[in-house]
Amino acid sequence: MPIISRRTLLKGSAAAAASFAIGGGLAARMSIAAPAPLLLKAQFTEAKLATDGITPKIMTYGTSETAATGMPPVIRMKKGEPFAARLVNALDEPTTVHWHGLRIVNAMDGVPEMTQPYVYPGDSFDYAFTPPDAGTFWYHPHCNTLTQMGHGLTGVIVVENPDDPVFDAEIVLNLRDWRLGTGGAFIAPFKPRDAARGGTYGTVRTSNWQQQPRYDAPAGGLVRVRIAATDVTRIYSLAAEGAPAVVIALDGNPVDAPTPLDLLDVGPGQRVELVVRMPDAEGAEVKLGNLRGSNPFTVATLRATGTSLKRDIRDVTPLPTNPIAEADLSTAIRIPLEFTATAEHAPVPSICGTIGYTFWAINRVPWQGDTPDPGAPVSELKLGKNYVLQVRNRTPHAHPIHLHGLSFRILSSNKRTVLPPPTDTILLLPDEQAELGLVADNLGDWLLHCHIIEHQKTGMSGYFRVV
Ligand code: C2O
Ligand code: CU
Repeated sequence: MPIISRRTLLKGSAAAAASFAIGGGLAARMSIAAPAPLLLKAQFTEAKLATDGITPKIMTYGTSETAATGMPPVIRMKKGEPFAARLVNALDEPTTVHWHGLRIVNAMDGVPEMTQPYVYPGDSFDYAFTPPDAGTFWYHPHCNTLTQMGHGLTGVIVVENPDDPVFDAEIVLNLRDWRLGTGGAFIAPFKPRDAARGGTYGTVRTSNWQQQPRYDAPAGGLVRVRIAATDVTRIYSLAAEGAPAVVIALDGNPVDAPTPLDLLDVGPGQRVELVVRMPDAEGAEVKLGNLRGSNPFTVATLRATGTSLKRDIRDVTPLPTNPIAEADLSTAIRIPLEFTATAEHAPVPSICGTIGYTFWAINRVPWQGDTPDPGAPVSELKLGKNYVLQVRNRTPHAHPIHLHGLSFRILSSNKRTVLPPPTDTILLLPDEQAELGLVADNLGDWLLHCHIIEHQKTGMSGYFRVV
C-alpha cells in the first residue's frame, strides 16, 4: 500500500524518493496542494468500512463536482499564506466547516449562529483565511455534529512550513471509529447512559477509513507520521513497536526536544506528530497501536522497503516554533472554569440538532444548544490582555476541552509532570486541576467545549467573548 510520500530528498536520497512515488489517484485524493479556492463538497458516499458489508449514506467531502469516494481529503495549506475553500452543501441538512486549531479570524470559524449563517442544502459558503501556525490540524462541521462527524465528516489539515526539516517520507493518519451494525449500516449514534459517562464508543475502528492499514516506508528512513484523533469519543493511548519513535509535535505545536514515544494519551480533537526510524531490514514491520482499555488494537503498520537509508533518529531536531504569544503572568486575570455533571433536563431544540439530554455543565451552566441566543459568555476577555484559566475537572471522566481561535499553554497541573507545548485542546484528566495561560489576541466569540461530542451536545460547551 503506498504512503503519502512528499519531500523525500533528505541527504540526497532522490533515488529512494523515486521508488516511493505514489499513484496519482490516491495522491490526488488524500493530499491536496490547494490553489485557491478549494472546492469542498459535503456529500453522501458509501464505503467498505466493516467486514460484512458496504456502509451506505456515509458523509464525506469531495474536491470536484463528480461524486466523492473515500475519506475527506488531507488539506494542505502553507503557514502564512492565504488559503480559500468553497463549501458546497450536497447533504440533506445544514452544515458548516470549522478549522480545528487554526487561529484565524472569527468570521471564518464555522460556528452557525455565532460566526456565520447555516449553509443549507444546495447553498455554499466561502472560507478564506491565512493560517498563522504550521502543524497538523483538522476540519469538521459544527452543526448536528454527532451525526455529521460520526458519519464521516472529519478530515486532516497539514499546514506546511518551508523551514521544516525534510524527512524520507510522510504518512498522515486520520483515526476514528464508526457505529455500525450488521451489514455495515449505521446504528444509533449514542446511548444516553454512556453519554452521561465517558461517551459511546464506535463498533468499527479505522485509520484513513481502513481497518489496520499497512503502509510501505523506506527501510532505515525517518518517517514523519501525522496523527489526528478525529473520533467523537475514543481516547487513544498510542505506542510504537518494532522501531524507535519520537514525538516531535503535539496539537500542531513542536515539543522543545523530540521525546521517545512511550504511551501517549490522545483525546478526540488532539494531534500527534511522530518520527519513526524504520528498521533496516526489508519487510520488517513497525506497529502503531492503541493500548488503552481492555481491547488494545493495531492502528496502522509500517513496512520497511528497499535498501536501508541508514538514518539516525538522534539527528531529529526540534521543529521551528509557532508565533503563539506567551501570557504575562504578572498582569494576568484569573478565570475559574469548572467542568461538572449537572441535573438532567432537556435542551432547547436547534436547527443543528440536539440529542435530547443535558448531563454536563461549565461553571454550573449547561449549554442550551446552538440557538440564535447562545446566552452569556463564560467570560468576556479584553483584546491583548493576559489570562489564566483555572480549570478544574470535577468528574471521574477525562474531557478533551477545546478552545476555538486561541491557543493556550498548560502552566501547571496536579496530574502532570511534563507540560506539553501550547495547544487548542487539553485532555483534562479525571479530577485534574490545571492553570492555562493565554493572551486574548483574537477578536470575537470563541467556543469552548468538550470534544467528546456527546458531552459537547449535552451541556459541556460555552464561549469566550474577546472584545
Ligand atoms: Cu473541533 Cu468546536 O471543534
Ligand atoms: Cu467530556
